[in-house]
Amino acid sequence: MKTVKLGIAGLGHVGCGLIELVERQTELRLPGKVEIVGVSARSRNRNRPVDISNYRWFDDAATLAEDPEVDVFVELMGGSDGPAKFAVEEAIKFKKHVVTANKALIAMHGQSLERQAQAAGVDLMFEAAVAGGVPIVRVLRDSLTGVSVTRVAGILNGTCNYLTTQMLETGRSYDAVLEEAQKLGYAEADPTLDVSGMDAAHKAAILASIAFTADLDFSKVSVKGVETVELMDLNLADRLGLRIKLIAEGVLTDEGVVCRVAPMAMKTSHPLARVNGALNTVRVEGDPLGAVTLTGPGAGAGPTASAVMGDIAKLFSPTARSPFGRAAHHKARTFVAGKSDERSAFFLRAKLADRPGALASLSEALAAHGVSIDKLLQDSADDSDVSPVAIVTHECSRGDIDAASDRLAALETIVGAPQVIQIDAAE
Ligand SMILES: NC(=O)c1ccc[n+]([C@@H]2O[C@H](COP(=O)([O-])OP(=O)(O)OC[C@H]3O[C@@H](n4cnc5c(N)ncnc54)[C@H](OP(=O)(O)O)[C@@H]3O)[C@@H](O)[C@H]2O)c1
Repeated sequence: MKTVKLGIAGLGHVGCGLIELVERQTELRLPGKVEIVGVSARSRNRNRPVDISNYRWFDDAATLAEDPEVDVFVELMGGSDGPAKFAVEEAIKFKKHVVTANKALIAMHGQSLERQAQAAGVDLMFEAAVAGGVPIVRVLRDSLTGVSVTRVAGILNGTCNYLTTQMLETGRSYDAVLEEAQKLGYAEADPTLDVSGMDAAHKAAILASIAFTADLDFSKVSVKGVETVELMDLNLADRLGLRIKLIAEGVLTDEGVVCRVAPMAMKTSHPLARVNGALNTVRVEGDPLGAVTLTGPGAGAGPTASAVMGDIAKLFSPTARSPFGRAAHHKARTFVAGKSDERSAFFLRAKLADRPGALASLSEALAAHGVSIDKLLQDSADDSDVSPVAIVTHECSRGDIDAASDRLAALETIVGAPQVIQIDAAE
């Protein structure tokens, strides 16, 4: 089993999230072993959620990047220029692969760095730079190469989406919701990069450059944020059946690639309109695909670190892997049948014979197996004197609802077998 050795520069949210993932890598499905050679940040003694005392400390990120033991330099400091850019360029010069989550760096200097990496024969990977835990970069770059993309659009800033969603849902002003978002950690103490649309613009420019094989020119990206969106706008749009969201997009036109970020209104049935809270979503439209949409956590230590780790996993060689991604050192697991004590709420539909006591017999049968009713809806009897009843149960075991269903099927007051469908509790 091969080992890949990391130098990690930046020990903030994402850096510490990555160290935590490296430390519990046996739970993951990596092709080999990942080892941390050394770490670097501004301050060595800062209180961090992970213990870094076992790792070699480097005061300077560039020195870490140059260290002969390092195979992969992981840049998690941030900033489009300065130490991040310098250290990444040093790493490439010293023929190290680079993995970064830094969208500002890639949006501003991605293509120059790409040229340097290609000349040095190393990889430069930045899955985490766009939409955090949503694996859109690789999907767009690798899986969708057979698609002629016409538009890539999405909600790429969780803070802005949280603000507009919460304003509409709670009826509170932009300032009030922003203040709460800062307290909850959904927004930075200085939210300018997010609310101005600049963060989403960095990500959109990266996606557009990949989708349309275009030279990334950030100076052509038009950027408008959510600062001017008032509660009144959201409410009035809502009454017209519209949602207002900050949309980042790249569109292929006859003249070239148009990349922009701005609040946009869309029908409530639109796939992007239904993405609420701090989630990110990206929709890729193209021929002959139609459209595909990916949604998930666009930020946060864990999700973002998982994307960084996904890039690191690509750097194991040889690259040939089993089609199911399995390796001999992975934990062996087997398929088993689902257990009857698994608990859930259920949708149950039964057909009641149109006669007195039918409904009572149904609730008695359910109660006999410990199944209680949360909601109940009954329709009038149809021409065949059958009246459909739909029930949402409280949480119960699969075994209990199946036993109750068998009991119902045997009753004279119930016509045919009831329909039992598990309710997926995922939000
Ligand atoms: N947070 C997310 O959810 C998320 C999602 C996607 C992408 N990203 C990107 O991931 C990167 C890191 O984000 P983060 O949220 O983890 O940032 P963070 O919490 O602010 O951490 C930044 C880290 O970099 C170190 N650092 C900053 N400037 C430095 C310098 N000049 N020299 C050496 N070290 C320096 C800091 O050192 P100290 O600890 O000593 O201060 C800190 O450890 C950024 O590019 C960000 O855009 C973040």
